Amino acid sequence: MTRKEIEAIVAQMTVEEKASLCSGGDFWHTKAVERLGVPAMMVSDGPHGLRKQKDEGDHLGVNDSIVAVCYPAGCASASSFDRNLLNEMGQAIGEACQAEGVGVILGPAVNIKRSPLCGRNFEYYSEDPYVAGEIAASYIKGVQSKNVGTSIKHFMANSQETRRMSSDSRVDERTMREIYMPAFETAVKESKPWTVMCSYNRINGTYAAENKTLLTDVLRDEWGFDGFVVSDWGAVNDRVAGVKAGLDLEMPPSCGVNDKLIEKAVKDGSLDESILDQTVIRILEIVYKYMDNRDKEAVFDRQAQHEFSRKVAEESLVLLKNEGILPLKKEQKIAFIGQYAEKPRYQGGGSSHINSFKVTGALEMVRDMPNVIYARGYDDAEDRTDEKLVAEAVEAAKAAEVAVIFAGLPDAFESEGYDRTHMQMPESQNYLIEEIAKVQPNVVVVLHNGSPVEMPWLPKVKGVLEAYLGGEAVGEAEYRILFGEVNPSGKLAETFPLHLEDNPSYLYYIGEEDVVEYREGVFVGYRYYDKKKMNVLFPFGYGLSYTTFDYSNITLDKESIKDTETLTVSVDITNTGKVAGKEIVQLYVSDKESTPIRPVKELKGFEKIELAPGETKTVTFRLNDRAFAYYNTQIQDFHIETGDFKISVGSSSRDIRLEAEVYVESTRSIPKKYHLNTTFGDISKDPEAEKFLAPLYAACTMIDACDTNSAEGLGTSSKAMQDAMMQYMPLRALVSFQDGTIDFTRLQEVLDQLNQ
Ligand code: GLC
Repeated sequence: MTRKEIEAIVAQMTVEEKASLCSGGDFWHTKAVERLGVPAMMVSDGPHGLRKQKDEGDHLGVNDSIVAVCYPAGCASASSFDRNLLNEMGQAIGEACQAEGVGVILGPAVNIKRSPLCGRNFEYYSEDPYVAGEIAASYIKGVQSKNVGTSIKHFMANSQETRRMSSDSRVDERTMREIYMPAFETAVKESKPWTVMCSYNRINGTYAAENKTLLTDVLRDEWGFDGFVVSDWGAVNDRVAGVKAGLDLEMPPSCGVNDKLIEKAVKDGSLDESILDQTVIRILEIVYKYMDNRDKEAVFDRQAQHEFSRKVAEESLVLLKNEGILPLKKEQKIAFIGQYAEKPRYQGGGSSHINSFKVTGALEMVRDMPNVIYARGYDDAEDRTDEKLVAEAVEAAKAAEVAVIFAGLPDAFESEGYDRTHMQMPESQNYLIEEIAKVQPNVVVVLHNGSPVEMPWLPKVKGVLEAYLGGEAVGEAEYRILFGEVNPSGKLAETFPLHLEDNPSYLYYIGEEDVVEYREGVFVGYRYYDKKKMNVLFPFGYGLSYTTFDYSNITLDKESIKDTETLTVSVDITNTGKVAGKEIVQLYVSDKESTPIRPVKELKGFEKIELAPGETKTVTFRLNDRAFAYYNTQIQDFHIETGDFKISVGSSSRDIRLEAEVYVESTRSIPKKYHLNTTFGDISKDPEAEKFLAPLYAACTMIDACDTNSAEGLGTSSKAMQDAMMQYMPLRALVSFQDGTIDFTRLQEVLDQLNQ
């Protein structure tokens, strides 16, 4: 169906019909118009598997859904840092959607991990917008390559669950642009998602569902989004304002209540019918895009996808500690301890909850290994120590050469709908680990958690494998990594802080009542910990391998560039170990000297490469202007300040192996806006300003502070004090320290010269 043909259909519609199309036909479908042969299209969650509900629909994962394959959640898959893998995962999910008649999968979920406490962190990708954007764009391209749409969510600044349907995220413009928007921006520009889902919350006072600045000015006019915007389920506040702002589809439908408001608004003239037409056309373009290209051959091969889910997990699990204990040897006497060995926690609670095809725990993989014994150790139904279970586990550990403890966060500790209040694991599990470490020096902990946890027992164990929520095949992946059949290659896409109190949002995370202030600004995650030079439990970008890698030969194709040019950086990576492995090479950019306060460094490139023992490959990064820029609120655009920038390439944010420098010249000047309250210090930063200031210094009578003979135009006695006085003195104050030749007319003349 072409646009013209859709327009022709809409032209035949009554206002009632058009208004009705602005909401779903039911919980999971757009609306049909039988009279005109307009079909309904199904949408379903997402993001890491297909949660298709045939009967009673709900948005919290309560009612049944069809059997589907549960892939690793976002916290895990982002740790793969593998664009191709996420694209493949997207393709698989797209295939499942085609086979099941679903036109849009409601994902990816890209909200930034502002705090480890967010109940939905498991579903999100990173604390870093570059990672979130790159991973999201890859997933979207994969799904949409199967002619199934996506719905990148939740737009925007929805980084907590507490009061999510009414809270007001107060975020300054620079922070929005540098931290909370880029994942959406990258995805929209690079992969053109068919739909965007607006979030529940307000942003700076206006609900996302009626936020014209976000839904039209930024999303469409600036970034070029051309699909439709769907509300989060129940996110609509003022439906007519929403239509005007760019919210196209209300989900779930409000039994016609809001449709009637749209109808009324058109009839009373407060809503221009052409806007309603545009809304309906946007929705139908996507509906027909899917319906006209149904893939009748698509097959949802659940077994094949289960095996692929294992591969995704194998690429995503993160080896956090290994003091010579991993990989295990199959002939070792091993104790597998913990309920999660048998029944792994592999997904989160809420709308993303998949009715999984087949869940494998690591224990299943060792059933035919008599040298592996099992003890349950705990029951995660409640955080209560069962001394009998502990005693059994301690005995099993004592009798073994190695104890592998499968632990983590129970469902009740984190979920959509509420936030955590602390970063601890269940006390009963910490106690179990401690008790086992007392009798067994060789302990490995395998963690199942959607968000960072404290690890009080870390010094007492020799190995830690972070499985996150690794999908239905996580047990197979854990087994293959523990026994060295797969070399772990995941890295953390978020920081694990030592203490919750260290987190930059700690003081005001969930806000007071409905006001949530993002006071930490751009200093989220490693941007904060690095700036404060804080120790962390495990840094952003960190992850171990069973081999080692050497970094050499960093080269830049230019020593200096203009802000309109790209810079190519290459580096050689060598596998210096004995087994094949994959390395995630990270590139960070630092502005060595900046007017605005900037993070120490920011991730602007990553590549994952596979190397045989002894093999060397060259990794190349291409950096455009955005790699160097900060958001300047005066010009309301990204800007690069001329100067030296450092390029750092490393194995993690705290393991920089090579550095180089590049000079970047800005070709865009910031319009000068000096005024009477601009200080002498600020004006004198401008090399052009000196000649205009000289006469003012000459007229200044402050204690020999205005000696224009010295380089700074300041006197020599008690220089520091006089420096500071002049530096911080606004122009207008000169009238109080002058020889009678200065008045405001004179000052304005100088300002006019300065602001040319
Ligand atoms: C939920 C979630 C959203 C989901 C939707 C439909 O409340 O916030 O991510 O896609 O409703 O289940």
